[in-house]
Amino acid sequence: MHDLEEAADPAPETPGAGTMKAIVQDRYGSADVLEFRRVSRPALESTEVLVEVHAAGVDRGTWHLMTGLPYLVRIAGFGLTRPKQPIPGLDVAGRVVAVGDEVTRFTVGDEVFGIASGSLAEYATASEDKLAPKPGAISFEQAGVAAVSGITALQALVEVGRLEVGQRVLIVGASGGVGSFAVQLAKALGAEVTGVAGPSNLDLVQSLGADHVLDHTRDDLTQGDPHDLIIDIGGRTRVARLRRALTPRGTLVIVGGEGGDRLTGGIGRQIRAVLVSPFVSQRLTMVISKEHHSFMDQLAEHISSGAVTPSIGRRFTLAQAPEALRLMDQGQSRAKSVITVRDQDAR
Ligand SMILES: NC(=O)c1ccc[n+]([C@@H]2O[C@H](COP(=O)([O-])OP(=O)(O)OC[C@H]3O[C@@H](n4cnc5c(N)ncnc54)[C@H](OP(=O)(O)O)[C@@H]3O)[C@@H](O)[C@H]2O)c1
Repeated sequence: MHDLEEAADPAPETPGAGTMKAIVQDRYGSADVLEFRRVSRPALESTEVLVEVHAAGVDRGTWHLMTGLPYLVRIAGFGLTRPKQPIPGLDVAGRVVAVGDEVTRFTVGDEVFGIASGSLAEYATASEDKLAPKPGAISFEQAGVAAVSGITALQALVEVGRLEVGQRVLIVGASGGVGSFAVQLAKALGAEVTGVAGPSNLDLVQSLGADHVLDHTRDDLTQGDPHDLIIDIGGRTRVARLRRALTPRGTLVIVGGEGGDRLTGGIGRQIRAVLVSPFVSQRLTMVISKEHHSFMDQLAEHISSGAVTPSIGRRFTLAQAPEALRLMDQGQSRAKSVITVRDQDAR
């Protein structure tokens, strides 16, 4: 654990009250809006599973839902003036403690990982469609950082990018949550991988298995031989520039990138790429991750085979979760940060 100041433990549970400790936000804002307090355990819908959270990953989506930025997030239905779900957190790993009447894939006691609603808490609900059995070979902490970023990387490379063995792949944003999975998956799928990251993270990208690394603060992405596939996960490199690093029939898949305007987050770059694509020989496209267990099952196979190991940059307690999001905001997170909720079982 990092030597961060521990928040005061919230009030003890009232016997029989069914409460839990959680991170709660009553309004949108920076990590300062997050409070560590005791709340009621979530109610279970008939198709949902109640997970006793052992570990929860921190991802960019959680940051966007915390801040309500870009505003598109609010318009998309997450709450116009305040978050509809006051407990943040998506990535989860833990043990099933209750199942809804219509749940067929899980029973009490199963170890699972996937995407929940409000995972920065001792208990979280998740649709059974968004959970998969936890691979036995990894810890709850590793499983807790895997789903959101891992399935996005998988869909970008395989479903959208149509990666083939032997292709040259450029991964922009290789040291982050999605990138740390994309590098390992691309290698597992037989690609020659160039990973792009900041200077302090080039060693990490190399350790993940990249054949070559480029520093986005210094190196020209168009240097060297062109690439068959570019997965753009970081920064806001102009599409025209990315096209110069592609082969004439290559594919660009835009996953995301921070620093756009407050209304749209700069999604115009993705839209422009899709609109230009029919008029050029290259295929320019984007990905919007589908949160379905079939992708988590595929990811779990790569993890079980040893080809992919979820990479944890920093560990935090539940009370320290605001600090994890603060560091992400400052661009100081590496791979995935994990919130360890039940320390005794997580590693
Ligand atoms: N489309 C979807 O369904 C989907 C799903 C998940 C995430 N996303 C989006 O994808 C993006 C990345 O998510 P993440 O969780 O991987 O974020 P992250 O963990 O914060 O990683 C960001 C990455 O971008 C790199 N980077 C920063 N500035 C850069 C620049 N100027 N040029 C090139 N690379 C730069 C970082 O490298 P250094 O830190 O080493 O500088 C890091 O590798 C976010 O915008 C997120 O919202 C989209």
